[in-house]
Amino acid sequence: MHHAADGTLIMQIAELDSPSVLIDLDIMERNLRRWQEHCNAAGIASRPHVKTHKIPELARLQISLGAKGINCQKLGEAEVMADAGLDDILVSFNLIGAAKLARAVALARRIKLSVVCDNDVVADGLSDAFAAAGMRLDVLAEVDTGGARNGLQTPQDVVAFAERLSNRPGLRFAGLMTYPPKGKVAEVRAFLSEAGELCRRQGLEPKVVSTGGTPDMWKASGYGGVTEHRAGTYIYNDRMMVAAGAATLEDCAMTVLATVVSRPTPDRAVLDSGAKSLAADLLGPGRGHGHIREYPDALIEQLHEEHGVVDLSRCTGRPAIGERLRIVPNHTCVVTNLHDRVWGVRGETVEKAWDVAARGRST
Ligand SMILES: Cc1ncc(COP(=O)(O)O)c(C=O)c1O
Repeated sequence: MHHAADGTLIMQIAELDSPSVLIDLDIMERNLRRWQEHCNAAGIASRPHVKTHKIPELARLQISLGAKGINCQKLGEAEVMADAGLDDILVSFNLIGAAKLARAVALARRIKLSVVCDNDVVADGLSDAFAAAGMRLDVLAEVDTGGARNGLQTPQDVVAFAERLSNRPGLRFAGLMTYPPKGKVAEVRAFLSEAGELCRRQGLEPKVVSTGGTPDMWKASGYGGVTEHRAGTYIYNDRMMVAAGAATLEDCAMTVLATVVSRPTPDRAVLDSGAKSLAADLLGPGRGHGHIREYPDALIEQLHEEHGVVDLSRCTGRPAIGERLRIVPNHTCVVTNLHDRVWGVRGETVEKAWDVAARGRST
């Protein structure tokens, strides 16, 4: 391994041990550029969700391409990103308990922090903590536009909650946030527009209307009145996004480099990559745990912790013991969380080694 004059790492993929996570830089850069150009044309700010990569250098790259700020799910991720100079962060998770509230106050002292909230228990905690610190925190009311996760259930609930938020010391009602369900653009639009209108009638302007997700990101402008969109997976893409129709296999920047360690029967290969490298998320019956680029008809049918068991019965060719394969994972975000480091590659050349600095920051 050596470095070029500009600091670029120069080594070959052949020199990397396996399992390793590789990011195809050409594909990743294309994914980032394409989405930013789309946001610019649609007049929507991009606020990428960094849970997909958990790497400050990539968050900075997203900002340098035009993103307004970043989105984190966890305070721990936000702290790592703030340490690296990211200064506009939305934490899209209800924060509960003294430990988290103290950390949120500390974070808000050094960056522009905003949070989401969908209930009075969380709002009371935030209000007490920020009022005691003599600060005001921007809070987005999280609304359930059909995703059936967190969120206020009706536009009437939203306006009542927004009113309570704006009357609490230490808080400022900043707008609406939702994680929309795929394929429900019209329903999401109807909910957001009614909730926004009711808020405005009470003099509560939702300055921010924040939607998210990669599966429907190309339709985000159809939600209407959206000021920012939080896409995460789009940077790498994965088989889930291919299944959702948001990307093709050619748009998948992340692969897991694996080695065939055993061929116990003519139709079976065993890889050195199991649930601790590939993650066990399934796409559906018969779809397996990843797409092997060199053997597209192979099925990764079972993952043990360290073994990936592959059914070769539908393949024309057969890999030899020692052969190295590249696998497009089902779900990139969880693969990221399993690895200390990922490698940025162009063709067969390894150019970057990034530590996954926010890995495992689950509080
Ligand atoms: C609140 C929120 N916003 C945005 C995202 C980004 O979604 P995606 O990875 O599909 O782009 C997620 C993903 O889980 C999320 O939970």
